[in-house]
Amino acid sequence: MVEPPGRQFSFDGRTRSAQPGETVLDTLLPEGLPNLQRSPHYHRPRAPMCGIGHCTGCLVRVNGRPNVRACRYEPSSGDRVTTENAWPSRRFDVLAIFDGLFPSGIDTLHGFRRPAFATPLYHRVIRRLTGYGAPPSPTSANSLSFPPEIRTTDVLVIGAGRAGRAVASELVANGVAPLLLDRASRIEPVPGATLLPRTTVSFLPPPQPTKEAPFEVLAFTEPSRGVRVWARRVVVAVGSYDASLLFGSNDRPGVMTADGAFALTSTAGKPPFHTAVVFGAGERARGVVDRLGDHVAALVAPGAVPPDLVRACSEAGIPIYPRSLLVAANGRSRVRSVELRTRGSGATSRVECDAVVLAHRRVPNVPVLFQVGARMQWRSGPGAYYPEIDADGQTSVAGVWAAGSVSGVTRPASAPSGTRAARALMGTASPEPPPERVPSEGGNELEGYYRELLARPRTGRWVACACEDILLQELEAVTARGYRGVEVAKRYSGLGTGLCQGRYCLPDALLLLALREGRPPSEVGFITQRPPVVPTPLAAFAALDRPSPVREDAA
Ligand code: FES
Repeated sequence: MVEPPGRQFSFDGRTRSAQPGETVLDTLLPEGLPNLQRSPHYHRPRAPMCGIGHCTGCLVRVNGRPNVRACRYEPSSGDRVTTENAWPSRRFDVLAIFDGLFPSGIDTLHGFRRPAFATPLYHRVIRRLTGYGAPPSPTSANSLSFPPEIRTTDVLVIGAGRAGRAVASELVANGVAPLLLDRASRIEPVPGATLLPRTTVSFLPPPQPTKEAPFEVLAFTEPSRGVRVWARRVVVAVGSYDASLLFGSNDRPGVMTADGAFALTSTAGKPPFHTAVVFGAGERARGVVDRLGDHVAALVAPGAVPPDLVRACSEAGIPIYPRSLLVAANGRSRVRSVELRTRGSGATSRVECDAVVLAHRRVPNVPVLFQVGARMQWRSGPGAYYPEIDADGQTSVAGVWAAGSVSGVTRPASAPSGTRAARALMGTASPEPPPERVPSEGGNELEGYYRELLARPRTGRWVACACEDILLQELEAVTARGYRGVEVAKRYSGLGTGLCQGRYCLPDALLLLALREGRPPSEVGFITQRPPVVPTPLAAFAALDRPSPVREDAA
């Protein structure tokens, strides 16, 4: 028998083949958007949502290691990939009965306490029935390499997008060879810079910070390599991403961000849907209409739609629903239609579709900046926290810089902001004026939108935190009990403690808590960000105090 080309691996018992550079998800997409995951409490079906390695919609088990992201993992020959958290199968999961049994959510804080002697038993049962998969098998835990090398570098650049690459190029042009890390696998090299693809990072509190290497970072390279990096200076250029949205059944397979729609389309060569409702009216929504217009069923905007987008939609024959609330998605294992309500008049409509693309706002990927202790500032235009920086990108932490959209500059200014930061880092002034940043004044359109939407009767599950299956009403119960602030809400409900580390739930939770507490989002605060801010196997942390066998200088 002739073996098909590529790396042969098994997925739920069936042999598949991955070409060089292909991830597990890439090999599945030609058959449509797969429902890979079940949610941790209610066992609701979930599918890839972001396509960029942040959400929890594509987790699989690889060779006994749980919770590996299928959109990031490039399988090796002989790998055994299985779905997890479902029995007997991901398509039909008996434990989905929980979804009907607990319509108001499971109160794990106050429930399962009586009679007291039975509490340990409850806990054992709950731990078996909920959560993300099973613990790693001993072989998979042992196969993770402990930090095998230490790299020292003058400049560590985190993020190899437009801004990070501009930083690296400018540094190389001036004789500095930086270490450049990115979570993506396909990155064009920057000649002269050392590149680590498929790598995530967490800052570690340095035990004895030195002048030469005040920053210590634990990097983890898929599939199994830990790298310990000591750096004298760090540039954070980790970009931004499309936010999620609150509405009924907002976790249904088929609900995805614009990041997801673009990423999954580019790998599959066609969109992972037939027709989608696009939510948003800005530059990002315009991008979706321009690139995927043949597959757009309707454009729904929370406010007015700018004339150029109206024109683009009418040329493509796409109906527009301006000033509308996205009330709910219908369908069980996949979105089949959405319910809309016109703001003010309350007129309702239904649009048939098999996907919802969220393209209404981009938020900066800031957890790593919070974690390193940079002072942050609420910018009410986009409704998000950004680092406080000077004109060149220097943050409040000496030696840490921010560049690109994570620093608040708009897309065209990403690369110039990186060049500027690199020059400032080398002590050279930039002749150009500093790039404009997103506004820190004014209101966010979503505040009024949510005020109106949440005052209406609701249908379907409203999931406030998809990673931890926290329902909106559980979050509302936090304020109803008199607790205030997002950190307390996190401790009470578990919101923001999942694998995305709050990237998808917090932007909306901040707006919601601000509405309920009657104060600005900046006063609602932010959650404490502790390492790791990206999922990192504990084996890599556990090995930090072992002697590293290899020491390798990046610069
Ligand atoms: S689709 Fe893979 S992490 Fe979101």
